[in-house]
Amino acid sequence: MTRRQKSSPAYPAIRMRRTRQSDWLRRLVAENALSVNDLLWPLFLVEGENRREPVATMPGVERLSVDQAVRAAEEAAGLGIPVVALFPFTPADKRDPEGTLAHDPDNLVCRATRAIKQAVPNVGVLCDVALDPYTSHGHDGLLKGETILNDETVDALVKQALVQVEAGCDIIAPSDMMDGRVGAIRSALEAAGHTNTLIMSYAAKYASAFYGPFRDAIGSSGALKGDKRSYQMDPANGDEALREVALDIAEGADMVMVKPGLPYLDIVTRVKAEFGMPTFAYQVSGEYSMIAGAIERGWFDRDRVILESLMGFKRAGADGILTYFAPEAARLLKGL
Ligand code: PBG
Repeated sequence: MTRRQKSSPAYPAIRMRRTRQSDWLRRLVAENALSVNDLLWPLFLVEGENRREPVATMPGVERLSVDQAVRAAEEAAGLGIPVVALFPFTPADKRDPEGTLAHDPDNLVCRATRAIKQAVPNVGVLCDVALDPYTSHGHDGLLKGETILNDETVDALVKQALVQVEAGCDIIAPSDMMDGRVGAIRSALEAAGHTNTLIMSYAAKYASAFYGPFRDAIGSSGALKGDKRSYQMDPANGDEALREVALDIAEGADMVMVKPGLPYLDIVTRVKAEFGMPTFAYQVSGEYSMIAGAIERGWFDRDRVILESLMGFKRAGADGILTYFAPEAARLLKGL
């Protein structure tokens, strides 16, 4: 026992354990709550029909053909999950240096968006805006030599956002980290009469090793040349995240996101405190795989670790969490 505890005048008048002694008390004094309304469910798409193929690096996650993605969206609706987020797997032979497929109105994401909005209109559809699922070099932008071109990329992203919105996408989520893209997308949406389309910007997105399994899931890992440090943020920086977020808000973002999640909870807290915006965090693929991998080996208690990891986001100040655990978490929260 330390001297401070020994001489504390508070004890035994104050015993912190009193409010922890039973379930009803713990529920009564809980400061934060996690609900199904806080969950956004990322789905991976693949061409074909009636197809579900496992993602090797993400135990329990599958790539879904459009009909199966509709199934998943129906499952989301049944569980009360508000949003599904769509990510396409693109094989090497469909990729090119410009990521042309990104703004093809009949690409996989657009077809899935149309099918989901038609079958389950009450589930929100979020579409990522970035070229990496479509480029042969795996970068989020257009490449000239070793350089990612900013303004030319923004033009391509605007086209990508417009085809997705025309397909029925509710929330446009630029994840590319080019400068000025939120403003450019916002003005293009306004000009096209899409005044109610939401933008959730990946405002503070870090150059992270935790995206590894995602790149496998969308077919980018073999493709990616070099790294994304000239556009995604340096993990060393916190103040810079606030500048990024401030800019995206000024350019017309309705909601902002911090990514990855658990290693960056300090950023979530600062962003929420500073701006009071609807603030989201992405429990990214690598975070999922660490937890799911340990569950698979029997090292973690599945139910508890899933809910604990998500509660951490709520405690940090997040209004919602993009998580591959969304359906499992929803079932746990509903006692199913
Ligand atoms: C694309 C994008 C990435 C993720 C979401 N959108 C990967 C990247 O930037 O390399 C990562 C999601 C995850 O790891 O779960 N720009």
